[in-house]
Amino acid sequence: MEFDETIAVGDPCVEASTSAVSVVTIVVCSSCRDASGSDARPRPGELLGAATREANTFPDVRVEQAECLGNCKRRLSAAFIKQGAWSYVFGDLGTDAAHDLIAGAKLFQQSTDGLMPWRGRPDCLKRGLVARIPPPEHFAAMWDHMASHKCGQTKEMERRAPDATPGVPRTLKDNP
Ligand code: FES
Repeated sequence: MEFDETIAVGDPCVEASTSAVSVVTIVVCSSCRDASGSDARPRPGELLGAATREANTFPDVRVEQAECLGNCKRRLSAAFIKQGAWSYVFGDLGTDAAHDLIAGAKLFQQSTDGLMPWRGRPDCLKRGLVARIPPPEHFAAMWDHMASHKCGQTKEMERRAPDATPGVPRTLKDNP
């Protein structure tokens, strides 16, 4: 699958905030079943989580488990979270994906533009990409940019949120 990883780069409206030194958390779904659909415990997702934790040697990569990431149809699933960066959801993983998850997380951890590089990403994290979600800072930068340009949309936003100070980044909570 081709995926445009450059879409958010270089545009002040959409550029994510950067942080060279940050922690990536891998969240592995502990309740995912494999292709057999079996309910037997431990579930394959739990095994993948344990193997990923075992494979991790990086202090700036954390491995956590959570029940159901809402991606059940794509079988074994995991998400990557990093403060100030885009979040990623992956599916169609195998129980043998632990080292790929760690390699992908380390690649993402070293990224300075808030995005996970496509080049160098393990194949299962290319094929298995389900979604990527921008951080709140992504929109704060856009609000900032729009406020500084006083375009029509900015005026509309100010009309909707008259108490907000122009030029001060606002959160999604302020954006009805
Ligand atoms: S059971 Fe794993 S995503 Fe739902």
